[in-house]
Amino acid sequence: MRQFLFPLSLALLVAPSYSLFSSGRDILSEQDATIAALVYGIPLTSYVVWANAVAAEKGGWFTNSFYYQPTLANASSPHVVILPNVDTLYSGAMIDLSQGDVVATMPPLEEGRFYVWPFYDLYGDNFCNIGTATNSLAGKYLIKYRASEPGCVAGSDEYTGIIYMPTVYGATLLRIEVFNSSDVNYVASSIDPGFRLSVLPSDSAPRAPALTQELLNDNLNTSDPALYIMQLTARVAAFNMPEVPEDVAPIAAVLEIAGISMTAQTYTMPAGVNLTLAYSAAQDVLLGVVANQTNFVALGNSWMMLAPALCGNFLSHYGVRAFIAMQAYLQLQASEAVYPTFALSGNLYANQTYMVQFFGKPQVNGFWSLTVYDGEGYLVPNSINRYSLNNRDNMTYPDGTLVYGGSSPANSTQSFYMLLQSTDTPASAEWESNWLPTPAAGGEFSFQLRWYGPTDSLLNGTYTYPKLTAVAANPPLPISG
Ligand SMILES: *[C@@H]1O[C@H](CO)[C@@H](O)[C@H](O)[C@H]1NC(C)=O
Ligand SMILES: *[C@@H]1O[C@H](CO)[C@@H](O)[C@H](O)[C@H]1NC(C)=O
Ligand SMILES: *[C@@H]1O[C@H](CO)[C@@H](O)[C@H](O)[C@H]1NC(C)=O
Ligand SMILES: *[C@@H]1O[C@H](CO)[C@@H](O)[C@H](O)[C@H]1NC(C)=O
Ligand SMILES: *[C@@H]1O[C@H](CO)[C@@H](O)[C@H](O)[C@H]1NC(C)=O
Ligand SMILES: *[C@@H]1O[C@H](CO)[C@@H](O)[C@H](O)[C@H]1NC(C)=O
Ligand SMILES: *[C@@H]1O[C@H](CO)[C@@H](O)[C@H](O)[C@H]1NC(C)=O
Ligand SMILES: *[C@@H]1O[C@H](CO)[C@@H](O)[C@H](O)[C@H]1NC(C)=O
Ligand SMILES: *[C@@H]1O[C@H](CO)[C@@H](O)[C@H](O)[C@H]1NC(C)=O
Repeated sequence: MRQFLFPLSLALLVAPSYSLFSSGRDILSEQDATIAALVYGIPLTSYVVWANAVAAEKGGWFTNSFYYQPTLANASSPHVVILPNVDTLYSGAMIDLSQGDVVATMPPLEEGRFYVWPFYDLYGDNFCNIGTATNSLAGKYLIKYRASEPGCVAGSDEYTGIIYMPTVYGATLLRIEVFNSSDVNYVASSIDPGFRLSVLPSDSAPRAPALTQELLNDNLNTSDPALYIMQLTARVAAFNMPEVPEDVAPIAAVLEIAGISMTAQTYTMPAGVNLTLAYSAAQDVLLGVVANQTNFVALGNSWMMLAPALCGNFLSHYGVRAFIAMQAYLQLQASEAVYPTFALSGNLYANQTYMVQFFGKPQVNGFWSLTVYDGEGYLVPNSINRYSLNNRDNMTYPDGTLVYGGSSPANSTQSFYMLLQSTDTPASAEWESNWLPTPAAGGEFSFQLRWYGPTDSLLNGTYTYPKLTAVAANPPLPISG
């Protein structure tokens, strides 16, 4: 599946704007309600793609227990709706609170290693995180369904905390920092297994059907994308309403007008609705998200990112929610990580070499990386199996000394440089440790920064973002500065 359905450079296009869920009109037409329902339901398709992929990795369907990823992503990893990083091991689980509460157990966190244990509602809203950035304590956390006021709160005697999930079904995708290749096995075998999920027995009647693979996949018309989204939404929406309490009644009304029965969990297309047109209008809503500059912040030197307040947890921003579900599903809140993107990615070709100047070390409370993807969002196969460069690598300054791991202070403002150059043209010896290979035989590529535990300096204009310059292959090293 393509990751970059809507390259951010499309921000330059002017697309129609919609305010589908606003109170401007009391009664929507069935056609407009269908458009709104599609935008509302699009993230469910990402959930299904993701859940099917995680289940396939584990070798069968499961809920309320983890699949621990054994190795870092590489160019032959299966590609699903998330843009894989090569910084952390992921552990994924589908959460099903239909039969009762679930207990999440977190072991003590190692000092100096970054952990984020995020919880998502069924639409990919990152409504709670525990881990390093939140200074969370080891212990048992009770995951409970609560139709409003989602989030994590401190617990009492029995539980370190309570995690209130606004939907009956949801997801978690634990990320643990990996320092180096020999650390992968250690994280996989000694840290990951300490993170566990288990179901609490309950005497109460189920509050919804169990979350099965059949529920998410069977008897849905996958040949018509619009019909598929409407049928899938009908099947699960009643048990998985918006996390914003004020939106519950209006959304239920919109879904009903669109032909979704909240009681029967079925979809019947209202006469006169043109699903093809509605689907195309829903796509325009997603393009409108890109065109709306207020959704993004410019970071300088052509870098941009989603406005921090919109990251991860989308509240009533259903268009943004759908857009991120298609682009980078299971995004984190900005306090955990942000993902600055080079805005001109569509114009970068691997028949060209680029030098990237970093103006000093980015200040993060966790760690950071820069990862290259091909034109479709896949990691780039290359001769040295290097997919990213980051603060755990042996990058050097132009004078040959180490950027990280040597005597350079953590707050150094000295410039260092990366070389983005095709894997067809190996880096010269002096560039080797700072070379990030781009695709073979030319072709488009993109790249993305990740700041885990970003400090304000990365978001408030204090840090000068990396500057990209097109250069000849293996250029002379810049003068140190
Ligand atoms: C990529 O990862 C897979 C799964 O862990 C592994 O079998 C394969 O050898 C890796 N490929 C490379 C080039 O490292
Ligand atoms: C790799 O990480 C481990 C921590 O798990 C550390 O002890 C070791 O020194 C690191 N190795 C290298 C080569 O940096
Ligand atoms: C799926 O939907 C398409 C378009 O409405 C229709 O032509 C087709 O018969 C449907 N397939 C099934 C299996 O219902
Ligand atoms: C939907 O609208 C398009 C564009 O106007 C039209 O070509 C198509 O025939 C319509 N589909 C139906 C089922 O009416
Ligand atoms: C643009 O985005 C902002 C922030 O998400 C939102 O409040 C506003 O309504 C949007 N404007 C349009 C025209 O969609
Ligand atoms: C690089 O590739 C792009 C896309 O194929 C092409 O438009 C451009 O002319 C090429 N540039 C050079 C310097 O070969
Ligand atoms: C960094 O250099 C050390 C010492 O030479 C080496 O052990 C380690 O594997 C290197 N790390 C990476 C990520 O290449
Ligand atoms: C880095 O931190 C040290 C110690 O806190 C301080 O003396 C120095 O001025 C800082 N350097 C920069 C470039 O901020
Ligand atoms: C930005 O954040 C940094 C780090 O917290 C702080 O030192 C600086 O004063 C802030 N600048 C502005 C303009 O807010």
